[in-house]
Amino acid sequence: MMTDRRLGDPDSNEMGFEAIGRSTMSNNKKSTIAGLINATLALQAPSPRLPTAKDKGVLQDLRFRQRELGRAKREVQEAQQKLNSIKMESVRRLTSGVAHVFNNLLTPIKGYSELLLKWAGPADPLRRCAEQISKAADCAASVICQLQAFAGRQMRVPKLLDLNAVLADMTPRLRQLIGEQVELITLWGLELRRVKADPAQIEQVMMNLVLNARDAMPHSGQLTTETANIELHETDIDPRVRARPGAYVMLAVTDTGCGMDRETQSHLFEPFFTTKDQSKGMGLG
Ligand SMILES: Nc1ncnc2c1ncn2[C@@H]1O[C@H](COP(=O)(O)OP(=O)(O)OP(=O)(O)O)[C@@H](O)[C@H]1O
Ligand SMILES: [Mg+2]
Repeated sequence: MMTDRRLGDPDSNEMGFEAIGRSTMSNNKKSTIAGLINATLALQAPSPRLPTAKDKGVLQDLRFRQRELGRAKREVQEAQQKLNSIKMESVRRLTSGVAHVFNNLLTPIKGYSELLLKWAGPADPLRRCAEQISKAADCAASVICQLQAFAGRQMRVPKLLDLNAVLADMTPRLRQLIGEQVELITLWGLELRRVKADPAQIEQVMMNLVLNARDAMPHSGQLTTETANIELHETDIDPRVRARPGAYVMLAVTDTGCGMDRETQSHLFEPFFTTKDQSKGMGLG
């Protein structure tokens, strides 16, 4: 039969479907349909055959292309990392320069406002003006501190630390910072290894994370601080982070707040990125 001959051709799957369509339409004898189905099944599951030299060549070529693609992807990633670190370094330099200039300008503002406060009597109308100038200067000084911290121009004094002790010392301040509406949970690991770090820097990082968490939970929620000894393997390390596999101490801060959407996450480490009001955030913490 013509249909059987076509279906029997192993290179002609397309024709097989065409043949079935036709026979269904003409609704021929049952035996013809059964024959077609058998022939189609034979086409869909061809009997296994040994790979030919051509197949092996194609496979080798595919593997080569896959390796090349992987290499190209890694190169693009590395180039992006380099570009990012160059960008960050220039932003840091600029920030550091701006902070330095503003610090110099601030010294006489603060100094003269203090003098005015000293000279003005309690009823002097100038006193209120001097107080306002002094308060604004204090605010500006704290912003400059933040800028200097971001620029990495602050003195670092690393020493061997027990992170649990640093956290225990800070906890009352953290509690005050997050407010009563947020529950503070502590999960601190036992026999924690010591780490070499600047305690002031750890405190600053914790303060920033807790402030972010507070802003993300304006009504209620939970804030967890966690420490643990961990082992990092090659596969655990994000390529953007310069870290080597080995023994580490983890310090994690988790909140049950609004979280971050993908867009926010993609800008997270960009300096001056913020979703908050200008009066609330600078995007540096
Ligand atoms: N715990 C968090 N939950 C939800 N969103 C967060 C959290 N932490 C940070 N974000 C988001 O990331 C943005 C950047 O945070 P970052 O701390 O760098 O700056 P900021 O808090 O906006 O300003 P600053 O820290 O200078 O006061 C925030 O504006 C916020 O949108
Ligand atoms: Mg912040």
